[in-house]
Amino acid sequence: MTENGKEVRVWCDGCYDMVHFGHANSLRQAKALGDYLVVGVHTDEEITKHKGPPVFMEQERYKMVRGIKWVDEVVEGAPYVTTLETLDKYNCDFCVHGDDITMTADGVDTYHLVKAAGRYREVQRTAGVSTTDLVGRMLLMTRQHFKQGDSEYSVDREPSKSMGQDRTARSPWTGCSQFLPTTQKIIQFSDGKSPQPGDKVVYVAGAFDLFHVGHLDFLEVAKKEGDYLIVGLHTDPVVNRYKCGNHPIMNLHERVLSVLACKYVNEVVIGAPYEVTKDLMEHFDVSVVCHGQTPIMPCEDDSGNDMTTEKIVERIILHRLEF
Ligand code: CTP
Ligand code: C5P
Repeated sequence: MTENGKEVRVWCDGCYDMVHFGHANSLRQAKALGDYLVVGVHTDEEITKHKGPPVFMEQERYKMVRGIKWVDEVVEGAPYVTTLETLDKYNCDFCVHGDDITMTADGVDTYHLVKAAGRYREVQRTAGVSTTDLVGRMLLMTRQHFKQGDSEYSVDREPSKSMGQDRTARSPWTGCSQFLPTTQKIIQFSDGKSPQPGDKVVYVAGAFDLFHVGHLDFLEVAKKEGDYLIVGLHTDPVVNRYKCGNHPIMNLHERVLSVLACKYVNEVVIGAPYEVTKDLMEHFDVSVVCHGQTPIMPCEDDSGNDMTTEKIVERIILHRLEF
């Protein structure tokens, strides 16, 4: 609120392709600068023109941004260069972006107009995650992002045969996660609420790797089963045991933040047991357990969405072949 009690409306825009916790963190910081957050998302056509085809289609990208808990409104098909008319149309006081420069295909700073008008604010970009980095992890089949020497996260398996067999390699292109998870970040992403007396607690568990529309749809359905949704995340070695290869693409800490950013999620279990035990059910006072359409535990609470992490990898490989 401003001094005279007026609501502060904030504008953000971007591609939001393969939405990750870096995007979510920028939206969290933007929301903290005001009261109401409007997010403009570019069309596939605009993105293709300025930086190459996105992995996710616009309808998927719009939906993913709507799923982030700090977002109040999504504007579909926002222009690539942010104009004052756009800010005025949505009654936004200023525009917020991470501290990196975004350019059009002609090399023009996409924020030059709002910067010149003093209606631009900057937030800190989250180091160690980007769409490019995630694509790199998938294509090069690196495993460094979740292998941490002899720690509890190490996985005793042969590295993938196809590519990136040197375990110590740190490709400047993939950059293997440099993200440093902290308790502060988890606190910032959590909603800090415990279940209220009488709340029906719903529990789901899985990898939730590269959090995508399939997960989002599933969590929406699961949340409707009760009042408080807990998501159990399997550890990296557990996920690797059933998904093999270089999975998970995102390590446990990264997956925690991606899931916490989702508006349907109230709590995350960091390293949940693979089996949903009686102890776990009692500990969290769980009333309902939901599963989606994975082959491991099929049931009725299907998300109706056939997106999987594997499909994302396939799409990326196809894109690489085309361009
Ligand atoms: N962003 C961020 N931290 C990251 C990645 C993105 O804060 N690690 C922010 C950007 O600064 C921008 C917003 O997220 O304000 C939307 O970014 P987007 O247009 O999707 O593009 P990129 O910055 O290119 O994101 P990426 O590098 O992951 O493709
Ligand atoms: O595969 P993963 O372990 O990440 O899935 C987590 C949960 O989301 C599982 O219950 C799975 O069945 C569900 N899901 C879904 N629809 C998808 C992808 C996952 O219901 N397209």
